[in-house]
Amino acid sequence: MSKVCIVFDRLRVEEKMLQKEASQMGHDTTMLDAKTTQVNTDSKRDDFDFGDVALERCVSYFRGLHFTASLEFMDVPVLNKFDVASVCGNKMFMTLQLKKNNIPTPKTYFSFSSEGATENLEKIGYPLVIKPVIGSWGRGVLPIKDKDTMDAIFEIRGITDNPHDRIYYLQELINRPPRDIRVITIGDRPVAAMYRKSSGGFKTNIALGADPELCEITPEMEDLAEKASKAVGGGILGIDMMEDEKRGLIVHEVNNTVEFKGLAKVAQENIPKEMIKFALDYIRK
Ligand SMILES: Nc1ncnc2c1ncn2[C@@H]1O[C@H](COP(=O)(O)OP(=O)(O)O)[C@@H](O)[C@H]1O
Ligand SMILES: [Mg+2]
Repeated sequence: MSKVCIVFDRLRVEEKMLQKEASQMGHDTTMLDAKTTQVNTDSKRDDFDFGDVALERCVSYFRGLHFTASLEFMDVPVLNKFDVASVCGNKMFMTLQLKKNNIPTPKTYFSFSSEGATENLEKIGYPLVIKPVIGSWGRGVLPIKDKDTMDAIFEIRGITDNPHDRIYYLQELINRPPRDIRVITIGDRPVAAMYRKSSGGFKTNIALGADPELCEITPEMEDLAEKASKAVGGGILGIDMMEDEKRGLIVHEVNNTVEFKGLAKVAQENIPKEMIKFALDYIRK
């Protein structure tokens, strides 16, 4: 019998499902609230109840990433690994990694000031999509169709001026049906996929009301998902793909802490169970 630690900052259905599956498989679980856990430079693994392996499931990306750093410092096996979380949590790093590994991904332009981005955008032309390098649920992902929109968005960024606002991530707008595809991979293996149909807007995030629909994993999706997972360092991931009118499937995002409650209802495989199995295999290797 092993003990699985689920690190959280807000207990969602997903974390409860993971706990339940682990218990049903006969394992112990420990739920650890990152918000109330204290770590210091003398901290040792034995000072805590980390169990044999930790699943980092914080909703806050930054909190989860920094917590993962402290887990790895104490030699606690954790999924996903710090390096994977770090790459997936930043859209620029993630895109570069995908491209470097020859995975079809939208053409993306990077500028490091609003002046640089303005100059570049006027050369490339509209439309483009701007995205915050750190963010999820579609927040701040905006199509830019003309100069007025660009000026407005850049002006607001200048006012908020967070460190990440100085990084301009601009991407070609993909011609696609009003949906995208989310594939969940566990250890580079796709276990379930869904179409996410837009509820009317430009974005297809479930958090924005998109309708999930079970998607049969084609050999092409399987191959792409496996490659994308390997490109960022593997683990438990959500690979997002769009169906480009001309190029076919392209990967636009790899997500680090994947939500799965909608998909779990319709998927054939037991997603949380596969995650627990993978975590336990991971420490046996
Ligand atoms: N280049 C693009 N062309 C067309 N639609 C896009 C493009 N990039 C993102 N989208 C849409 O916006 C949604 C959110 O973008 P995404 O990059 O996945 O950011 P987030 O991490 O916030 O989910 C996608 O699911 C997709 O529906
Ligand atoms: Mg996304």
